[in-house]
Amino acid sequence: MQTLKQKFIDAGQAHVFKYFDSLTDEEKSALLAQLEQVDLDELKSLNDELLFSKTESTAIDFTKLQPAEYAPLPADKISDAKWQEAKKIGEDAIKAGRLGAFVVAGGQGTRLGFNAPKGLYKVTPVKQKSLFQVFAEKILSASKKYGVSIPWLVMTSHINDAPTRAFFEENNFFGLNKNDVIFFKQGLMPAVDYNGKIIMESKSKIAMTPDGHGGCLRGMCRSGAIDELKKRGVDCISYFQVDNPLVNIIDPYFVGFHILGKSEMSSKMIAKAYALEKVGHFCTLDGKLTVVEYSDLPNEYQEMVDENGKLKFIAGSVAIHILDRNFVEKLGGGASDTKLPFHRADKKIPYIDENGNAVKPEKPNGIKFEMFVFDALPMANSPIIIEGFRGDEFSPVKNAEGLDSPLTCKNHQKMQVARWLDKVGVKVAVDENGVPTDDIEVSPLFASNEEDFANAWNALTEKPEVKNGFYL
Ligand code: UD1
Repeated sequence: MQTLKQKFIDAGQAHVFKYFDSLTDEEKSALLAQLEQVDLDELKSLNDELLFSKTESTAIDFTKLQPAEYAPLPADKISDAKWQEAKKIGEDAIKAGRLGAFVVAGGQGTRLGFNAPKGLYKVTPVKQKSLFQVFAEKILSASKKYGVSIPWLVMTSHINDAPTRAFFEENNFFGLNKNDVIFFKQGLMPAVDYNGKIIMESKSKIAMTPDGHGGCLRGMCRSGAIDELKKRGVDCISYFQVDNPLVNIIDPYFVGFHILGKSEMSSKMIAKAYALEKVGHFCTLDGKLTVVEYSDLPNEYQEMVDENGKLKFIAGSVAIHILDRNFVEKLGGGASDTKLPFHRADKKIPYIDENGNAVKPEKPNGIKFEMFVFDALPMANSPIIIEGFRGDEFSPVKNAEGLDSPLTCKNHQKMQVARWLDKVGVKVAVDENGVPTDDIEVSPLFASNEEDFANAWNALTEKPEVKNGFYL
């Protein structure tokens, strides 16, 4: 304890011991355990770089930005030789057990006004299935289709780990084999005030916040999840976010392009729906692939058009990637000297004042440090991007109302079903926006893409009537 205390004194963080002598034994041990986790050298360099430095090391020279190249969606995948070659290679890899699924689910549903792990949020139009159930069923149906067990990594955070695990238990893992679901908690970083001092949340607790979705790389390594994947022969990791029920988790085309391209980190892009859509932008900078967030890219760049009037920076990042397992180890392993950079986020962080009273600030009073997974792209060898079809890939639930809300997401799910039905000759009534007027839903266990839907539908001896509440 003496050496630990000395380290904090030397680092100018002695205040974390201010109330130590007045704490119970239990509180003392809890605080010491927390302090043990803090990497003071790392914290010092983050303070120097992100708080005290006058020059912004992450500033981008926008004039050098170029749009990233990607494999565009062909008019018809089925008759496109390159896409069919990729599909075959992807299918073979999936059947050989080389693919694992991975959801980053450390976030809460705060923006939705939902006070629980976001994966518990109910999203489907008829059965009100949760996000986790939708993902589980997609993975289960792919496991059956390819005759292989597909491990699923679920990254949680210290806030939502217990309720997430309990939800899976209560729901019998949605039919998945319990041993194929591997939970791990993401790491934590201390939050600091504007003087670089660690914020005390209470007399016996420092404020620690999740280290961002980029923390998944070291999280996978520290937790042993990566060793588990190695043991199972998984070398392609299908990464997705918890907020997007349309995600095509097990996509043989994507896996095939990733393998064919010998890529260490592959991405799906979706053409932006409009210039200022709030997504990251795939760009190249000095020959390196990079994602520039909408919040960092000036509007004039987001709105720029080419000679044909098409948006220049059209490739939206929908946070869907395939990570090569060795690449994850290279960046996330302890010995690695190539690490993801941290970003600062100014936040309202509850703290105790000089008199030890708890305060809930009204405006940002400090910063938390976060890593973003897409910052791995410039470090990846041969990163490739393929285009995805928005209607079959992306409709996130982020806001309680308006864009990217539960309502828009339900509408997109219904429109997907209507498109699939249309392909097999069944017309569905829609409103003036093209949204089916009835609530209709197809379980991933029936089909999770257009091709499989047509096959499964045609195999039905009796076709059900499509009306409100239709569910297959
Ligand atoms: C993110 C991307 C953006 C992309 C968009 C697509 C960032 C900074 N931006 O935006 O480029 O276009 O998604 O929908 O990521 N998470 C954790 N742990 C954390 C923080 C986040 O697991 O510490 C998870 C969340 O549970 C969620 C995902 O990461 O699954 C995205 O987090 P969020 O902060 O909601 O990102 P967005 O701002 O929506």
